[in-house]
Amino acid sequence: MDPTARGNLGPVSSTDLAGRTALVTGASRGLGRAIAAGLASAGAAVIGVARDGDALSSAMEAVGGRALVHDLADVDGIAARVEGLEVDVLVNAAAVMSSKRSTTLATTLGEWRDVRAVDLDAPFALVSALVPGMARRRWGRVVNLSACLGRLTGPGTAGGLAPYRVAKAGLNALTRNLAHELALGRRGVLVDATCPGHCRTDMGGPDAPRSIEEGADTAIWLCRRASSPSEPAPTGRLWEDRAEVPW
Ligand SMILES: NC(=O)c1ccc[n+]([C@@H]2O[C@H](COP(=O)([O-])OP(=O)(O)OC[C@H]3O[C@@H](n4cnc5c(N)ncnc54)[C@H](OP(=O)(O)O)[C@@H]3O)[C@@H](O)[C@H]2O)c1
Repeated sequence: MDPTARGNLGPVSSTDLAGRTALVTGASRGLGRAIAAGLASAGAAVIGVARDGDALSSAMEAVGGRALVHDLADVDGIAARVEGLEVDVLVNAAAVMSSKRSTTLATTLGEWRDVRAVDLDAPFALVSALVPGMARRRWGRVVNLSACLGRLTGPGTAGGLAPYRVAKAGLNALTRNLAHELALGRRGVLVDATCPGHCRTDMGGPDAPRSIEEGADTAIWLCRRASSPSEPAPTGRLWEDRAEVPW
């Protein structure tokens, strides 16, 4: 897709993230891996986070990035793991799906907590650790990989997959709340969420209609948008295929 085709990208070049550091969770495979590659080709120094050290190392070797192996379910350990890193772009792509039968009444407290830890608490812990530095330096991008299933409109939160849908709805709320706290880009930090659509990854399955590249495109685009504190790009929003969609 032509990076200037739609939306508020503003002027970009292939090196517009040169000098920036991007931390991408879920970078060992699927959408996170493709997003990490897209940010690296835009010039960013990439740090990938995932559990599988071999898969993550090979993904990071391919893009000249650094592997930071961590189980994000260990939410309490996140701050220490990223301590001292100066990160300009945070992409929360790691997530786990809940079991197919997990209606609200069929969900155990254990599954509820396990899904919430990776899908909502870990993004919060990374935001807490890394976004204060972005605000101080007056430049940052936070992109949260949400899901249509977590929307309060359309196909979202309409029953089933309760831990996953509710965690993603919480991630949407975290996104909007944080963006407002950061004055909607006027402190130099853009905070947005994106629905990648149903993609052919381990999570989406081989029969999903969209490719990994299609699913990763909007997240990369959001990270690369031009913005300035005096004229911020639209932020605190939910995006799908580079267009805003209702929460
Ligand atoms: N694919 C879809 O159709 C679809 C649709 C809507 C939304 N999304 C969202 O898009 C994002 C990416 O999804 P995907 O399809 O690429 O998923 P995926 O193929 O299942 O990959 C998930 C990634 O998250 C990492 N991860 C999972 N649990 C982790 C943990 N406890 N600690 C650290 N890393 C962990 C995995 O790495 P390790 O196993 O190495 O830890 C892997 O890199 C997710 O947020 C998902 O909810 C996907």
